[in-house]
Parts: sequence; structure tokens; C-alpha cells
Amino acid sequence: MRLLHAGRSLILASGMAAGVLAVSASAGAVDPAADQAHPAQSPAVDWPVLKPARPLDAATEARIAAMVAHMSLRQKVGQMIQTEIKVATPDDLRTYYLGSILNGGGSWPYGRREASAAEWLRLSDAYYDAAMQSDAPDKIPPLWGTDAVHGHNNVRGATLYPHNIGLGAAHDVELVRKIGAAVGKAVRATGVNWAFAPTVAVVQDQRWGRTYESFSSDPAQVRAYARAYVFGLQDDPSGHGDVIATVKHFFGDGGTDAGKNEGVNTATKEDMIKIHEQGYIGGLEAGALTVMASFNSWNDKAEGVDYGKMHGSRDLLTDVLKTKLGFDGLVISDWDGVGQVPGCSKTHCPQAVNAGIDMIMVSQGWKPMLEATVKDVEDGAIPVSRIDDAVTRILRVKMRAGLFGRRPSASKYAGRDEALRNSALARRAVRESLVLLKNNDHTLPLKSGKRILVVGKSADSLANQAGGWSVTWQGDQTTNADFPGAVSVLAAIRKANQGGLVRYSATGEDVRVEDYDVVIAVLGETPYAETLGDIKTLSHTARYPEDLSVLNAVAGHGRPVVTLFESGRTAYVSDLLNRSEAFVALWLPGSEGGGVSDLLFKRPAKAKPGHNLDFRGTTTFDWLASACPSKDAPVLFKAGYGLTYRHHGPNLAPLAETPPIQSCPDAAK
Ligand code: GLC
Repeated sequence: MRLLHAGRSLILASGMAAGVLAVSASAGAVDPAADQAHPAQSPAVDWPVLKPARPLDAATEARIAAMVAHMSLRQKVGQMIQTEIKVATPDDLRTYYLGSILNGGGSWPYGRREASAAEWLRLSDAYYDAAMQSDAPDKIPPLWGTDAVHGHNNVRGATLYPHNIGLGAAHDVELVRKIGAAVGKAVRATGVNWAFAPTVAVVQDQRWGRTYESFSSDPAQVRAYARAYVFGLQDDPSGHGDVIATVKHFFGDGGTDAGKNEGVNTATKEDMIKIHEQGYIGGLEAGALTVMASFNSWNDKAEGVDYGKMHGSRDLLTDVLKTKLGFDGLVISDWDGVGQVPGCSKTHCPQAVNAGIDMIMVSQGWKPMLEATVKDVEDGAIPVSRIDDAVTRILRVKMRAGLFGRRPSASKYAGRDEALRNSALARRAVRESLVLLKNNDHTLPLKSGKRILVVGKSADSLANQAGGWSVTWQGDQTTNADFPGAVSVLAAIRKANQGGLVRYSATGEDVRVEDYDVVIAVLGETPYAETLGDIKTLSHTARYPEDLSVLNAVAGHGRPVVTLFESGRTAYVSDLLNRSEAFVALWLPGSEGGGVSDLLFKRPAKAKPGHNLDFRGTTTFDWLASACPSKDAPVLFKAGYGLTYRHHGPNLAPLAETPPIQSCPDAAK
């Protein structure tokens, strides 16, 4: 599905898609490989206007119109329904003309967590074949959507890349494009053709449970990354590794009051444009084929206009996204998101369809949704023209993605487990994402061959290392056996410390610290996703007191302590910093722990060329010196901060510590 932009050809130079896409005079030519800050769209007070990334192809549009004209109402509405593989058989697609299936987080073919690429593919072929046997005049291939948000993360053995917060810290837009391409290849290998990625939230309050899904608090970086990631996912030059991308969640999900997931964003219109819309501009510039609506609401208090839930807002889904931004792909609702629209249920919501939802993601009750929506059209609650527009968009996406006449297994990498993996790329991403926050007395890098005591709950926990959306939805209820091929930080340290001794103690209480040369403490958060990740305070010790206990056990014994902190957000950790001579933010690095040891240990002089020997990551969010975010909260490390071995500056002085607090004055209720 090479998205050639007739008249705006993508220039594939030196193996790198350095697309030059003249989108519109106001936006100017954009280079997807650019990570520099683009001027936000102006004027600031009105919604930006874009031209569609690609002109409509007359022959395709004529073919679509002819198909729509021959479809019955039930066939049209069937195309607008997406439901979970747990509740729809291939025969349901044949009988009810369903347009799409998805596997939610932690949902696998036949309910088998260990399903191989070949087993995913077999089910996808079955859905495709069933759709081809429907009695509809035109046989329409199904879409299969999956949350491949840091690799093909529902699939056992797939490489897991750093979550987006770590990729943001790497400041490497070409790396992001390459990761998009690697994820597309992995997804296509399982017969799946649609990735619900990238998230393009620009997070304002890190108490939000989905902070780690955001690249940055800098809208210009999010815009550049969105563009690169979408190009990576959708534009595989070989045509065998491309999948449909989704910029999500439209929009303002990262700006809700107190970071409450699915909450209310009360930003001004100007901030909605300059902050929260920028990722969509980037994604649409790259030709993203789909947009996912957001659970949050927008209440423009400054203007006195409450737009309410995004899923029910025609002003935003149609007027802003489709008309102003020129989006001509499909808008999909989020998981039963239509049910949150006032007056709607999870199985009936004409308001959302009329607002601009083209495909409805229904977790279970797809049959009542189908029947109710057909009746809405018959009763005039939904105009036929809206249905025809939605189906036209769905068919346009399927045609642009080249799905017609392409059985899932008719693909170069189909069914091949090795296509799920790219450890070298992920290891590079880990290295580039790490942020060195403290390195007193040049504690790092370590010389190998030493006696190393490793402590902390996360040292050998691949679940903590990977975070949410890893094999399961929450990233929990897994063991290391669920991540075949992955390398924990502890395993990586053992491998890197050639000729030395490595002892692991989770608590650090059953060992004599003096028997070792250095202590490495691997601490941080345990996995979470969405609302379950919402917190009331950034105080790490309030949520995880065990980490402070570990440092209290190993600090003060005359041995340097190196703390490696795994988290989906920055946090209030001044107490942990004070008990560490060196402190590295790992974010949520994923399956390749080797990327961590690559930087911890001094490289042999004959290091492989191009193997970066030093830190380069910088935090993309302010790291606070208090547990409660606010406009005037004290900042410990400003966004953009990160030490290197070459330039590490003076030692970090002891920090003021406040006792752990369980809530902040404005915490979401
Ligand atoms: C979830 C998330 C969304 C995801 C969808 C399907 O609720 O909000 O990001 O793509 O459901 O799993």
C-alpha cells in the first residue's frame, strides 16, 4: 500500500523515506524526517485548514460509488460495525456483512495467549474467506485492528520497543519511522492489517494513566513523530510490511483536568489547536488512513462552549477533522465509547454516527447495534447520506490499503514468527531513550569484571520492563516465560559484566553490601494501562514504598548505588535520588534490556563502529521537585534535560525531600 501522493511524490532517497509533501500553502512543504519545531498552524484563533494528503482517485471513487449504490442498508451498516474476535465468528462476517474485527488488549486468536503468527494468520484468513462468501453484490475484505502500540505487543515473542515516552526522549525521528515500519511488518505477518497507533496525545498532567503512550509534552515533536510513525506503518516500499495507521485519540485526551482518563479537557480553543491538534496535523500530513475518537470531553470554558464528549461532537469530528483538516479516511469510535454520549448506550447511538463516527467499535453487543442502527436509518434518525458517507470512507480506506483481492496469507512475511522480531532496532531505541539524570563522581560508566550487587523488584521483571499493553491489556498477569527472546536488565548486566560477579537480591536486606564494588537498584512502577494508571499524586514512594526501603537497605555502606528507574511518567523521586550516586530514567524500555547495559558499562576500545557509547536521551516532560503538578510547581529537571558521559556537569547536590503524600488538592475525584 505505497501511498504515492500523485503530484506530491514521496521522494525515497538513500533508503529513507524523506517525503516531501506539499500539503497546503499555509502549512508549507513538510519533511517527515524533520524533528525540528514547525511553526504551529496559524492563525492561532481558528481551526487550521489542510488539504487531504492525497487527491481522490477518480477511478477508485467511481468504483466505490458503484459499490455503495448496490449495497443494501444492512450491508452498509454491517460495514460500519467493528467487534471483538471473541464474539464474532468468521461466519458472522459472512452473514451480517461486518466490516471489521479487532482483538482488544490481551485478546488472542482462539483465546490462546501463545498463538503463533501462523495461528493469527489462520484466523485472519478465515475471516477474509467468510467475507468473500457473503451474498453481497461486492465481496468486501474485512479490517482487523489491533493495539500494536510498542511492537506487536499482544503476540507472544514479538519484540517490544520502548513505549512512546521513551521514544520521545530519544529525539530521533528516523528511528521512529523505522520502528513504525518494523511494527507494520510484524502486524502484517499475523494477517492483521490495522494498527491502532500512534497515540498523539500531548500530555499536560503526568498523573494521566496513559502518559507513557505520549511521545512528548512538546506539540511540535509530537507532530513530527506522528508523521514519521504513520509513514513507517503505512508506507513500506516493498508493500509487504504496511498496515493502516490510526492517529488517536481525537482529541485533547492528554489535557484533561488533573490528568483524569476519559475526563474533561478545559483548554482554550487556541491551546486545543496549538497543543492537542498538532499530532493530527502531523499524522494527516503523512496520510493516516484512520482516526480514533477520544473518550474525553472538551469544555471551552474561555468561550463558554461545552462541546461535550468527543464521540458525540459533530463540531469536532466532522467540522474540524473532516472539513477543516480535510480528513477523508474513516473515524472509528473507541471501545464502546459511543455509550458515553448522553442519551446513548453501548449498543445504540445515532448521535455518534451523525456526529461523524464512521465505524463503531462494539466490544460485545454488535448485533443489537446493527439492528438499532438499521432502524435509525429507516426511521430517519440517521440520514442515508451519512451512512453512505461512512461506507464510502470505509471502502476508500480498504482500497487505499490494497486489501481488495489480497488474502491475508498472500504476503511475503505471512505466518513467519521472525517477522515479529527486530531486537537490534529495539536495543538501539532503548539506548537512545535512556536519560542520565545524575552521575555524581563519575560513578558511571562501570568497568566490567566487578562484584555487582543488583537489587530491586524490577531487575528481572520483564512485565515491569515492558509496562502496559504487553501480552495482556494491563501488562500484568504475566511471567517472564510470556516474553520468549526478551532480555531482562538483570540478564543484560550479567552478560555485560564479563569476568565479574553479579548477585541479585530483590530487597537488598539479605546481603552484605560491603562485599560488592557497586550496587545497581532496578526500581519503578508496575504495569498499568488507561484508567488503572491514573494517579492522584506524582509521589513515587506513596505508591511504591518498597523502592525506598530497598535504597535505605543498600545506601550508606560506602558503595556507590546506581538506580535504574522504570516508569511510564516522570515522578517525584527526590528521596530516591538522594540515596543514589547515579540515576537513570529507563522509562518502559520493553524487551531489550541489553540496551541498558550497553550504556552502563564502559565499552571496549574496539567497540563496534556506530555503537553509541554515550547517553543522548533527554526528558520530554518536566521532572518536578514536588508531588503535585501545577502551573507554578517547582521543576527539578526541565524538559530537555539529560546528562552524558562527555558533558555531565557538576554533582547533583542533596535535594529537599517531602514525605510521601497520597493526594493533591486538585486530584481527580
Ligand atoms: C481502548 C483504548 C484504545 C484502544 C481501544 C482498543 O479503550 O482507549 O486506545 O485502541 O480500546 O483496544
